[in-house]
Amino acid sequence: MEETLFMIKPDAVGARKVGLILAEIEKAGFEIVAMRQIRMTADQARRFYAMHEGKPFLDELVAFMSSGPAVPCHLRRQNAILGLRELIGATDPKEAKPGTIRALYAESKGKNAVHASDSPESAKTEIEFMFGAVGAAR
Ligand code: RTP
Ligand code: MG
Repeated sequence: MEETLFMIKPDAVGARKVGLILAEIEKAGFEIVAMRQIRMTADQARRFYAMHEGKPFLDELVAFMSSGPAVPCHLRRQNAILGLRELIGATDPKEAKPGTIRALYAESKGKNAVHASDSPESAKTEIEFMFGAVGAAR
């Protein structure tokens, strides 16, 4: 089994798509190990996306990710990391395959509904970032 960090971003929470998006996650066989609703400060969003320090879109990304509530989820499944990246689709919804979460629910490349860890290292760091203080339910 593999673990990964999924997050429903503020655009999708604001559009009341949390339930529909979680239905896609569960249909695809992911187990929700832990889940919460948060509102990140700009500083926290910048730390979460530290890998993008220096990129031209970082300020916009930080402003967006701290603009409203988000729902991070600690997920478990076989092949969870690559499998979840496939389920969410390409970063830009215009390039996302039909039926993927971003094709269904994202507005734009910036406001793209969901996040998923991109490697075992980022999954570990991101699960710790979101759930480290309390820990998983099981
Ligand atoms: P994420 O980390 O949120 O799951 O997205 P990703 O791996 O598909 O894309 P990544 O390259 O890690 O970029 C992180 C987020 O930054 C925003 N972005 N905007 N305007 C732009 O050119 C641009 N490029 C990236 C997106 O919100 C992207 O999800
Ligand atoms: Mg990424």
